[in-house]
Amino acid sequence: MLETDRLILRQWQASDRQPFADLNADPDVTEFFPAPFSATQSDEGIQRYQDGISQRGWGFWAVERKQQGDFIGFVGMQPIPDILPVEPGVEIGWRLAKHSWRQGYASEAAKACLQFAFVKLDLPQIFSFTAVANAPSQAVMHKIGMRNMQQNFINPKVPQGHPLAEHVLYKITVEQWQSHIKS
Ligand SMILES: CC(C)(COP(=O)(O)OP(=O)(O)OC[C@H]1O[C@@H](n2cnc3c(N)ncnc32)[C@H](O)[C@@H]1OP(=O)(O)O)[C@@H](O)C(=O)NCCC(=O)NCCS
Repeated sequence: MLETDRLILRQWQASDRQPFADLNADPDVTEFFPAPFSATQSDEGIQRYQDGISQRGWGFWAVERKQQGDFIGFVGMQPIPDILPVEPGVEIGWRLAKHSWRQGYASEAAKACLQFAFVKLDLPQIFSFTAVANAPSQAVMHKIGMRNMQQNFINPKVPQGHPLAEHVLYKITVEQWQSHIKS
C-alpha cells in the first residue's frame, strides 16, 4: 500500500467492482481506447491487477481518496506486456473516474509510484505509453518528469489501421527522476 497527502493506493476489494465497471463503461474515460470495456472485461482487469499485486507486492493499485473514502480508479505499475514492440521493462499507467479528473490525483499517485519504483524496487527506468492523441495522459507523463522517446510504435492490441493504434513511448531513468524531484 502507498499513501500520499490525499490518496491511498491499495489492493483491490469487492466494493471496487461496480465503480470500476462504471468508469470503464464511460465513453469519455475510454475515449483513447478502441471501445469502452464491458463489465466482464472490467472484472477480469481487477482479477489481473489483484493477482499481480499479490504475486509481486506491487502493480496497478486501486486508488482511494482519503477524505471522501471513495474509490476513483487505478494508478500503478506492471511489467510491459511481451506482445508490445517495446524493450522489456516496467510501465506506469492510470485510469480515473471522470468526476475526479483535473485535480492533480493522477500525478500525485504517479509520483508516489515512481518513488516506490526507484527507491524500494531499485528499478533503473520506468516507461509509459499511450495513443498519440491522448493528451491528458501525456500531460501526466510530462508532469512527473518523463520524456518522449520519439519512438512511436503500433500497438498490436489495437485493431490494425485504427487511428488509436500509433502510440508514443515515454521514459524516465532514476537519474532523471532524482533531478526532477530536486527541481
Ligand atoms: C489521464 C488521466 C489519468 C489524468 O488524470 P488527472 O487526475 O486529471 O491528471 P492530473 O490532474 O494529475 O493532471 C496532470 C497534468 O495533466 C494535465 N491534464 C489533465 N487532464 C488534461 C486534459 N484533459 N487536457 C490537457 N491537460 C490535462 C493537468 O493540467 C496537469 O498538468 P498541470 O499541472 O501542468 O496543469 C485521466 O484523464 C484519465 O483517467 N483519463 C482516461 C483514462 C486514460 O486515458 N488513461 C491513460 C491510458 S494510457
